[in-house]
Amino acid sequence: MHKKLNTRLLPFSQKTLLEISENFGTPVWVTDEKTIQDRCQQMIDAFSGINMKIFYAMKANYNPHYVKIIKDAGIYGIDAVSPNEVRLALELGYAPEHIIFTPSNPTDAEMKYVGDQNILQNLGSLSELERFGKMFSGSKVSVRLSPNIGVGECDKITTGQNESKFGIVLDDFSEVQNICTQYNLTLEGIHCHLGSGFYSATEFSEAFELLLEISEQFSDIKFIDMGGGFGVQYHPDKEEIDLKDFANTLSKSLEKSSNKNIEIRIEPGKFLISQSTVLLTKITTRKAKEIVFLGVDSGFHHLIRPAMYGAYQHIVNISKMDTDAEFENVQVAGNVCETCDIFNENIEIQKAEEGDILAVLVAGGYGSTMSSNYNMRETASEVLVKASGEVVLTKKRESYEDVMKGFVWG
Ligand SMILES: Cc1ncc(COP(=O)(O)O)c(C=O)c1O
Repeated sequence: MHKKLNTRLLPFSQKTLLEISENFGTPVWVTDEKTIQDRCQQMIDAFSGINMKIFYAMKANYNPHYVKIIKDAGIYGIDAVSPNEVRLALELGYAPEHIIFTPSNPTDAEMKYVGDQNILQNLGSLSELERFGKMFSGSKVSVRLSPNIGVGECDKITTGQNESKFGIVLDDFSEVQNICTQYNLTLEGIHCHLGSGFYSATEFSEAFELLLEISEQFSDIKFIDMGGGFGVQYHPDKEEIDLKDFANTLSKSLEKSSNKNIEIRIEPGKFLISQSTVLLTKITTRKAKEIVFLGVDSGFHHLIRPAMYGAYQHIVNISKMDTDAEFENVQVAGNVCETCDIFNENIEIQKAEEGDILAVLVAGGYGSTMSSNYNMRETASEVLVKASGEVVLTKKRESYEDVMKGFVWG
């Protein structure tokens, strides 16, 4: 099968990646500082004509080195979903007003900890709002609404519809107001997050109009937070998302509104980080059954998106990039003892042999942060290629002792 290698989504040269695999071993996540900086700038530029604040959704990747790069690139704040994310954001120097806390089903202790730091909470149920009101009567708050508009790469990461666990349904908005009145809370913001991975502005625009309409009725509301979800190009043949389209729809709706200057917030995660990173993994086993399986030294304990979401991850055979090796159809399988431990079940890559290094592309978002120790396997090391070209280790590969350290036994 003759085909031309498409390296559009690969931010590194073959030499850099082979050297890293040699020096740091595999599996290893490799992240490109320059790509993170470029993605941040693209987002800032696209929305520059709007009263916009951008909060990085740290859940996508909380490696402190990368969060710091995002901060230094001019992204305003952090969207944190757990107290530990809040704590890291504070340790990285974010001021409390540059952090928003959007928890799922928080405990009172969690809300208390975050409230004590003077960080705005964005609460997704009447119960949470009421419990917050009891603890922090007289303070500011934001609510996560369920606009009943959801869109995402797959059902599991589509969140804005009323059937999802997230948000307060619009019919309950009058109850939100009652609770705010009862506890003297100022409703500063309204928020929605439609899902992760949308590529056109249709649903985004529809949901924005809904929230804008609500904001027009309440003078306390200072911002509308539209959440994250801006899609990234996982497949080299797929078109890049056009952020200007999103900015234009916002501008058009604002133009018609009595609330023209309201602050808009967004919380991109994957858009800022995903394309910066590849996961390097080595082929341990080549096996031909009905299809050729390439077994590798990584698996869904590192990158769970294909197994969990059925997500597409593009893969390049780095070892053969400089050759004219033909392409073949393969299934790239991990080293976890599960049938669904597959990185890509049908991909054409240059004919591979045991020992070759594969790069799983667009792996920076929801990759290392979703890693586990399933099968008692260690999480992988992480390496940053700085804009200067310097290569630094940002996270060590775990050891047997690391995997065992939480157990109380013996
Ligand atoms: C509340 C909230 N904001 C932002 C994000 C970031 O989404 P994405 O990484 O798709 O931009 C998420 C992710 O699920 C989220 O739950």
